[in-house]
Amino acid sequence: MRLLVLGGTQFLGRHVVDAARARGHEVATFTRGVSGEPPEGVRALHGDRDDPEALPRALAGWSPELVVDTSCQTRAAARNAAAALAGVSGYAFVSSLNAYRSWPPGPVGREDDEPTWDTGEDDYGPNKAHAERVLGAAVGEGFLTARAGLIAGPYDNVHRLGWWLERISRGGRVVVPDALDQPLALVDARDLSQWLVGVAEQGWSGAVNATGPAGMTTLGGLLDLCREVTGGDAEWVPVPEDRLLEAGVEPWVHLPLWLPRDVARTAWDVDTTRARELGLPLRPLRETVADTWAWLQTHERPPMAPLAHRREPGLPADLEARLLTRHDRAPRT
Ligand SMILES: NC(=O)c1ccc[n+]([C@@H]2O[C@H](COP(=O)([O-])OP(=O)(O)OC[C@H]3O[C@@H](n4cnc5c(N)ncnc54)[C@H](OP(=O)(O)O)[C@@H]3O)[C@@H](O)[C@H]2O)c1
Repeated sequence: MRLLVLGGTQFLGRHVVDAARARGHEVATFTRGVSGEPPEGVRALHGDRDDPEALPRALAGWSPELVVDTSCQTRAAARNAAAALAGVSGYAFVSSLNAYRSWPPGPVGREDDEPTWDTGEDDYGPNKAHAERVLGAAVGEGFLTARAGLIAGPYDNVHRLGWWLERISRGGRVVVPDALDQPLALVDARDLSQWLVGVAEQGWSGAVNATGPAGMTTLGGLLDLCREVTGGDAEWVPVPEDRLLEAGVEPWVHLPLWLPRDVARTAWDVDTTRARELGLPLRPLRETVADTWAWLQTHERPPMAPLAHRREPGLPADLEARLLTRHDRAPRT
Protein backbone atom coordinates (compact mmCIF):
# COMPACT_ATOMS: atom_id res chain seq x y z
CA MET A 1 0.00 0.00 0.00
CA ARG A 2 1.03 3.62 -0.24
CA LEU A 3 2.38 4.45 3.23
CA LEU A 4 3.36 7.96 4.30
CA VAL A 5 5.75 8.47 7.20
CA LEU A 6 5.46 11.91 8.73
CA GLY A 7 9.10 12.23 9.77
CA GLY A 8 11.13 9.23 8.70
CA THR A 9 14.71 10.44 8.46
CA GLN A 10 15.64 10.23 12.13
CA PHE A 11 15.56 7.65 14.90
CA LEU A 12 12.06 6.15 15.19
CA GLY A 13 10.81 7.33 11.81
CA ARG A 14 13.84 5.87 10.12
CA HIS A 15 13.01 2.45 11.56
CA VAL A 16 9.39 2.89 10.44
CA VAL A 17 10.62 3.42 6.88
CA ASP A 18 12.68 0.22 7.07
CA ALA A 19 9.78 -1.75 8.54
CA ALA A 20 7.31 -0.46 5.95
CA ARG A 21 9.64 -1.31 3.06
CA ALA A 22 10.26 -4.75 4.50
CA ARG A 23 6.47 -5.25 4.38
CA GLY A 24 6.47 -4.33 0.71
CA HIS A 25 4.77 -0.94 0.96
CA GLU A 26 5.39 1.96 -1.36
CA VAL A 27 6.85 4.45 1.12
CA ALA A 28 7.11 8.24 1.19
CA THR A 29 8.56 10.45 3.91
CA PHE A 30 7.49 14.01 4.65
CA THR A 31 10.16 16.19 6.28
CA ARG A 32 11.70 19.64 5.91
CA GLY A 33 14.86 18.05 4.49
CA VAL A 34 16.93 19.42 7.37
CA SER A 35 17.89 16.09 8.98
CA GLY A 36 18.94 14.23 5.87
CA GLU A 37 17.10 12.23 3.25
CA PRO A 38 15.47 8.79 3.30
CA PRO A 39 17.15 5.84 1.57
CA GLU A 40 16.94 5.38 -2.17
CA GLY A 41 13.63 3.94 -3.28
CA VAL A 42 11.67 6.05 -0.82
CA ARG A 43 9.74 9.04 -2.15
CA ALA A 44 11.15 12.10 -0.30
CA LEU A 45 8.42 14.72 0.10
CA HIS A 46 9.38 18.05 1.61
CA GLY A 47 7.69 20.79 3.56
CA ASP A 48 7.16 22.13 7.06
CA ARG A 49 4.19 20.48 8.70
CA ASP A 50 3.43 23.66 10.61
CA ASP A 51 2.65 25.28 7.24
CA PRO A 52 -0.99 24.57 6.22
CA GLU A 53 -0.11 24.60 2.49
CA ALA A 54 2.86 22.26 2.70
CA LEU A 55 1.28 18.80 2.96
CA PRO A 56 -1.38 19.29 0.26
CA ARG A 57 1.32 20.69 -2.03
CA ALA A 58 3.69 17.78 -1.39
CA LEU A 59 0.94 15.19 -1.77
CA ALA A 60 -0.32 16.44 -5.12
CA GLY A 61 -0.27 13.35 -7.37
CA TRP A 62 0.51 10.85 -4.60
CA SER A 63 -2.24 9.93 -2.21
CA PRO A 64 -1.33 7.80 0.82
CA GLU A 65 -3.55 4.99 2.09
CA LEU A 66 -1.70 4.57 5.40
CA VAL A 67 0.12 7.01 7.68
CA VAL A 68 2.62 6.55 10.50
CA ASP A 69 3.12 9.90 12.22
CA THR A 70 6.34 10.14 14.22
CA SER A 71 6.99 13.88 14.00
CA CYS A 72 3.99 15.68 15.49
CA GLN A 73 5.11 18.17 18.15
CA THR A 74 2.79 21.15 17.63
CA ARG A 75 -0.92 21.86 17.45
CA ALA A 76 -0.53 23.33 13.97
CA ALA A 77 1.17 20.13 12.79
CA ALA A 78 -1.80 18.08 14.03
CA ARG A 79 -4.35 20.44 12.50
CA ASN A 80 -2.63 20.43 9.12
CA ALA A 81 -2.28 16.64 9.04
CA ALA A 82 -5.94 16.27 10.04
CA ALA A 83 -7.00 18.48 7.14
CA ALA A 84 -4.85 16.69 4.57
CA LEU A 85 -4.99 13.04 5.66
CA ALA A 86 -8.44 12.38 7.15
CA GLY A 87 -9.30 9.94 4.36
CA VAL A 88 -6.62 7.30 5.05
CA SER A 89 -7.64 3.83 6.21
CA GLY A 90 -4.99 3.53 8.93
CA TYR A 91 -3.22 6.29 10.88
CA ALA A 92 -0.74 5.25 13.57
CA PHE A 93 0.19 8.26 15.68
CA VAL A 94 3.23 8.40 17.97
CA SER A 95 2.23 10.08 21.20
CA SER A 96 3.72 9.90 24.67
CA LEU A 97 2.84 8.87 28.20
CA ASN A 98 3.18 12.63 28.79
CA ALA A 99 -0.25 12.95 27.16
CA TYR A 100 -1.63 11.74 30.52
CA ARG A 101 -2.21 14.41 33.12
CA SER A 102 -0.93 12.10 35.83
CA TRP A 103 2.35 11.06 34.18
CA PRO A 104 4.85 11.43 35.53
CA PRO A 105 4.75 10.16 38.26
CA GLY A 106 1.92 7.79 37.29
CA PRO A 107 1.11 4.98 37.80
CA VAL A 108 -0.81 4.59 34.54
CA GLY A 109 -3.75 2.21 34.41
CA ARG A 110 -5.85 1.10 31.41
CA GLU A 111 -5.89 3.68 28.61
CA ASP A 112 -9.60 4.48 28.84
CA ASP A 113 -9.44 5.13 32.56
CA GLU A 114 -6.71 7.76 32.43
CA PRO A 115 -7.47 11.42 31.72
CA THR A 116 -5.23 13.17 29.19
CA TRP A 117 -4.37 16.88 29.12
CA ASP A 118 -7.11 19.21 27.92
CA THR A 119 -5.43 22.56 28.56
CA GLY A 120 -4.31 25.07 25.97
CA GLU A 121 -0.68 25.43 26.99
CA ASP A 122 2.03 24.99 24.39
CA ASP A 123 3.84 22.16 26.10
CA TYR A 124 4.85 18.63 25.10
CA GLY A 125 2.17 16.58 26.90
CA PRO A 126 -0.77 18.94 26.28
CA ASN A 127 0.26 19.26 22.61
CA LYS A 128 0.38 15.47 22.15
CA ALA A 129 -3.02 15.08 23.86
CA HIS A 130 -4.49 17.83 21.68
CA ALA A 131 -3.05 16.22 18.55
CA GLU A 132 -4.58 12.87 19.51
CA ARG A 133 -8.01 14.51 19.76
CA VAL A 134 -7.77 16.55 16.55
CA LEU A 135 -6.44 13.67 14.45
CA GLY A 136 -8.70 11.11 16.10
CA ALA A 137 -11.76 13.22 15.29
CA ALA A 138 -10.66 13.73 11.68
CA VAL A 139 -9.66 10.15 10.85
CA GLY A 140 -12.17 8.33 13.05
CA GLU A 141 -12.05 4.55 12.65
CA GLY A 142 -8.47 3.54 11.87
CA PHE A 143 -6.77 6.13 14.08
CA LEU A 144 -4.57 4.67 16.82
CA THR A 145 -2.44 6.66 19.22
CA ALA A 146 0.62 4.90 20.60
CA ARG A 147 1.59 6.50 23.92
CA ALA A 148 5.26 5.64 24.08
CA GLY A 149 7.37 5.77 27.21
CA LEU A 150 11.12 5.58 26.77
CA ILE A 151 12.26 4.57 23.26
CA ALA A 152 15.77 3.19 22.73
CA GLY A 153 17.86 1.57 20.01
CA PRO A 154 20.20 2.36 17.12
CA TYR A 155 19.94 5.87 15.58
CA ASP A 156 18.71 7.29 18.90
CA ASN A 157 19.50 10.98 18.56
CA VAL A 158 18.20 11.74 22.06
CA HIS A 159 21.20 9.81 23.42
CA ARG A 160 20.08 8.82 26.90
CA LEU A 161 21.15 5.18 26.72
CA GLY A 162 23.93 6.26 24.36
CA TRP A 163 25.42 8.59 26.98
CA TRP A 164 25.58 5.79 29.54
CA LEU A 165 27.17 3.44 27.01
CA GLU A 166 29.85 5.96 26.13
CA ARG A 167 30.56 6.90 29.74
CA ILE A 168 30.67 3.30 30.94
CA SER A 169 32.89 2.24 28.03
CA ARG A 170 35.52 4.74 29.23
CA GLY A 171 35.66 2.73 32.46
CA GLY A 172 36.95 3.86 35.87
CA ARG A 173 34.77 5.11 38.68
CA VAL A 174 31.31 6.02 37.42
CA VAL A 175 28.84 8.06 39.46
CA VAL A 176 25.50 6.24 39.60
CA PRO A 177 22.43 6.92 41.73
CA ASP A 178 22.37 4.67 44.76
CA ALA A 179 18.84 3.68 43.67
CA LEU A 180 19.99 1.07 41.18
CA ASP A 181 16.98 -1.05 42.00
CA GLN A 182 14.52 1.54 40.68
CA PRO A 183 12.23 0.06 38.02
CA LEU A 184 12.62 0.99 34.36
CA ALA A 185 10.70 0.09 31.21
CA LEU A 186 11.41 0.90 27.59
CA VAL A 187 10.56 -0.11 24.06
CA ASP A 188 13.04 -0.83 21.29
CA ALA A 189 12.50 1.59 18.38
CA ARG A 190 12.58 -1.34 15.94
CA ASP A 191 9.88 -3.24 17.83
CA LEU A 192 7.72 -0.14 18.03
CA SER A 193 8.22 0.70 14.34
CA GLN A 194 7.40 -2.74 13.07
CA TRP A 195 4.29 -2.76 15.22
CA LEU A 196 3.19 0.74 14.11
CA VAL A 197 3.27 -0.35 10.48
CA GLY A 198 1.09 -3.34 11.37
CA VAL A 199 -1.28 -1.09 13.32
CA ALA A 200 -1.76 1.15 10.28
CA GLU A 201 -2.22 -1.86 7.97
CA GLN A 202 -4.87 -3.33 10.23
CA GLY A 203 -6.61 0.03 10.75
CA TRP A 204 -6.75 -0.51 14.51
CA SER A 205 -8.25 2.28 16.59
CA GLY A 206 -7.97 3.72 20.07
CA ALA A 207 -5.14 4.39 22.48
CA VAL A 208 -2.33 2.09 23.54
CA ASN A 209 0.34 2.45 26.20
CA ALA A 210 3.15 1.50 23.86
CA THR A 211 6.01 0.64 26.14
CA GLY A 212 7.71 -2.31 27.75
CA PRO A 213 5.94 -4.18 30.54
CA ALA A 214 6.22 -3.02 34.16
CA GLY A 215 9.05 -4.85 35.91
CA MET A 216 11.02 -5.61 32.72
CA THR A 217 14.23 -4.22 34.21
CA THR A 218 15.78 -1.82 36.69
CA LEU A 219 18.18 1.08 36.24
CA GLY A 220 20.95 -1.13 37.68
CA GLY A 221 20.01 -3.98 35.36
CA LEU A 222 20.37 -1.71 32.35
CA LEU A 223 23.68 -0.23 33.52
CA ASP A 224 25.07 -3.72 34.17
CA LEU A 225 24.16 -4.63 30.59
CA CYS A 226 25.94 -1.49 29.36
CA ARG A 227 29.07 -2.60 31.22
CA GLU A 228 28.80 -6.11 29.82
CA VAL A 229 28.39 -5.08 26.19
CA THR A 230 31.05 -2.35 26.26
CA GLY A 231 33.43 -4.70 28.05
CA GLY A 232 34.80 -1.91 30.24
CA ASP A 233 36.07 -2.05 33.82
CA ALA A 234 33.65 0.58 35.11
CA GLU A 235 33.15 0.60 38.84
CA TRP A 236 29.86 1.96 40.20
CA VAL A 237 30.13 4.73 42.76
CA PRO A 238 26.59 4.93 44.16
CA VAL A 239 25.69 8.41 45.40
CA PRO A 240 22.56 8.98 47.52
CA GLU A 241 19.71 10.97 46.00
CA ASP A 242 19.90 13.90 48.42
CA ARG A 243 23.60 14.36 47.70
CA LEU A 244 23.01 14.27 43.96
CA LEU A 245 20.21 16.83 44.16
CA GLU A 246 22.17 19.06 46.52
CA ALA A 247 25.08 19.06 44.05
CA GLY A 248 22.76 20.24 41.28
CA VAL A 249 22.43 16.94 39.41
CA GLU A 250 19.23 17.06 37.38
CA PRO A 251 17.34 13.78 37.29
CA TRP A 252 16.73 12.36 33.77
CA VAL A 253 19.08 14.97 32.23
CA HIS A 254 22.47 14.82 33.98
CA LEU A 255 22.05 11.18 34.93
CA PRO A 256 19.82 10.01 32.09
CA LEU A 257 17.02 7.58 32.95
CA TRP A 258 17.40 8.26 36.71
CA LEU A 259 14.30 9.61 38.45
CA PRO A 260 13.90 10.78 42.04
CA ARG A 261 12.63 8.10 44.40
CA ASP A 262 9.08 9.49 44.63
CA VAL A 263 8.65 9.53 40.86
CA ALA A 264 10.54 6.31 40.11
CA ARG A 265 8.33 4.30 42.42
CA THR A 266 5.37 4.58 40.03
CA ALA A 267 6.62 6.06 36.73
CA TRP A 268 7.16 2.72 35.03
CA ASP A 269 4.15 1.08 36.58
CA VAL A 270 2.23 1.38 33.31
CA ASP A 271 -0.51 -1.01 32.29
CA THR A 272 0.55 -2.39 28.91
CA THR A 273 -2.04 -5.18 28.71
CA ARG A 274 -3.49 -3.74 25.51
CA ALA A 275 -0.07 -3.38 23.88
CA ARG A 276 0.67 -7.02 24.66
CA GLU A 277 -2.75 -8.12 23.38
CA LEU A 278 -2.11 -6.23 20.14
CA GLY A 279 1.28 -7.86 19.76
CA LEU A 280 3.76 -5.04 20.49
CA PRO A 281 7.00 -7.05 20.41
CA LEU A 282 9.54 -7.09 23.21
CA ARG A 283 13.02 -8.16 22.19
CA PRO A 284 15.63 -9.04 24.84
CA LEU A 285 16.96 -5.86 26.42
CA ARG A 286 20.52 -7.06 25.88
CA GLU A 287 19.91 -6.88 22.11
CA THR A 288 18.75 -3.25 22.35
CA VAL A 289 21.82 -2.31 24.39
CA ALA A 290 24.29 -4.29 22.25
CA ASP A 291 22.91 -2.99 18.95
CA THR A 292 22.86 0.61 20.20
CA TRP A 293 26.51 0.23 21.23
CA ALA A 294 27.44 -1.34 17.88
CA TRP A 295 25.74 1.54 16.07
CA LEU A 296 27.42 4.20 18.22
CA GLN A 297 30.82 2.77 17.42
CA THR A 298 30.31 2.83 13.69
CA HIS A 299 28.25 5.98 13.11
CA GLU A 300 28.45 9.63 13.94
CA ARG A 301 25.71 10.46 16.37
CA PRO A 302 22.98 12.48 14.61
CA PRO A 303 22.07 15.85 16.12
CA MET A 304 19.17 16.01 18.53
CA ALA A 305 16.17 17.98 17.27
CA PRO A 306 16.04 21.26 19.19
CA LEU A 307 12.75 20.75 21.02
CA ALA A 308 12.01 22.68 24.19
CA HIS A 309 11.48 19.56 26.29
CA ARG A 310 14.68 17.83 25.18
CA ARG A 311 18.01 18.61 26.81
CA GLU A 312 21.45 17.27 25.98
CA PRO A 313 21.87 14.37 28.41
CA GLY A 314 24.92 13.58 30.50
CA LEU A 315 26.83 14.46 33.64
CA PRO A 316 29.28 17.32 33.05
CA ALA A 317 32.84 16.15 33.81
CA ASP A 318 33.43 18.79 36.50
CA LEU A 319 30.25 17.80 38.31
CA GLU A 320 31.25 14.13 38.15
CA ALA A 321 34.71 14.94 39.55
CA ARG A 322 33.18 16.95 42.42
CA LEU A 323 30.77 14.14 43.29
CA LEU A 324 33.58 11.56 43.30
CA THR A 325 35.76 13.73 45.58
CA ARG A 326 32.89 14.35 47.94
CA HIS A 327 32.09 10.64 47.96
CA ASP A 328 35.69 9.83 48.94
CA ARG A 329 35.60 12.35 51.77
CA ALA A 330 32.18 11.34 53.11
CA PRO A 331 32.39 9.92 56.63
CA ARG A 332 31.72 6.20 56.87
CA THR A 333 30.47 4.60 60.06
N1 LIG B 1 12.66 9.36 22.40
C1 LIG B 1 11.82 8.94 23.32
O1 LIG B 1 12.21 8.32 24.32
C2 LIG B 1 10.32 9.22 23.14
C3 LIG B 1 9.44 8.85 24.15
C4 LIG B 1 8.06 9.01 23.94
C5 LIG B 1 7.60 9.53 22.76
N2 LIG B 1 8.48 9.93 21.81
C6 LIG B 1 7.96 10.43 20.53
O2 LIG B 1 8.44 9.54 19.54
C7 LIG B 1 8.64 10.24 18.31
C8 LIG B 1 10.09 10.06 17.90
O3 LIG B 1 10.15 10.32 16.55
P1 LIG B 1 11.52 10.36 15.73
O4 LIG B 1 12.57 9.62 16.49
O5 LIG B 1 11.21 9.92 14.36
O6 LIG B 1 12.01 11.86 15.79
P2 LIG B 1 11.42 13.32 15.91
O7 LIG B 1 12.59 14.09 16.41
O8 LIG B 1 10.20 13.48 16.67
O9 LIG B 1 11.10 13.69 14.39
C9 LIG B 1 12.11 13.98 13.55
C10 LIG B 1 11.65 13.77 12.11
O10 LIG B 1 10.60 14.67 11.77
C11 LIG B 1 11.02 15.60 10.77
N3 LIG B 1 10.51 16.92 11.16
C12 LIG B 1 10.81 17.61 12.30
N4 LIG B 1 10.13 18.77 12.32
C13 LIG B 1 9.39 18.83 11.18
C14 LIG B 1 8.48 19.78 10.63
N5 LIG B 1 8.20 20.94 11.24
N6 LIG B 1 7.90 19.50 9.44
C15 LIG B 1 8.17 18.33 8.79
N7 LIG B 1 9.01 17.39 9.27
C16 LIG B 1 9.62 17.63 10.45
C17 LIG B 1 12.54 15.51 10.78
O11 LIG B 1 13.12 15.80 9.53
P3 LIG B 1 13.60 17.31 9.19
O12 LIG B 1 14.41 17.77 10.36
O13 LIG B 1 14.40 17.16 7.95
O14 LIG B 1 12.37 18.12 9.01
C18 LIG B 1 12.76 14.04 11.15
O15 LIG B 1 12.61 13.19 10.04
C19 LIG B 1 8.27 11.68 18.58
O16 LIG B 1 6.95 11.91 18.22
C20 LIG B 1 8.43 11.79 20.10
O17 LIG B 1 7.63 12.82 20.63
C21 LIG B 1 9.82 9.78 21.96
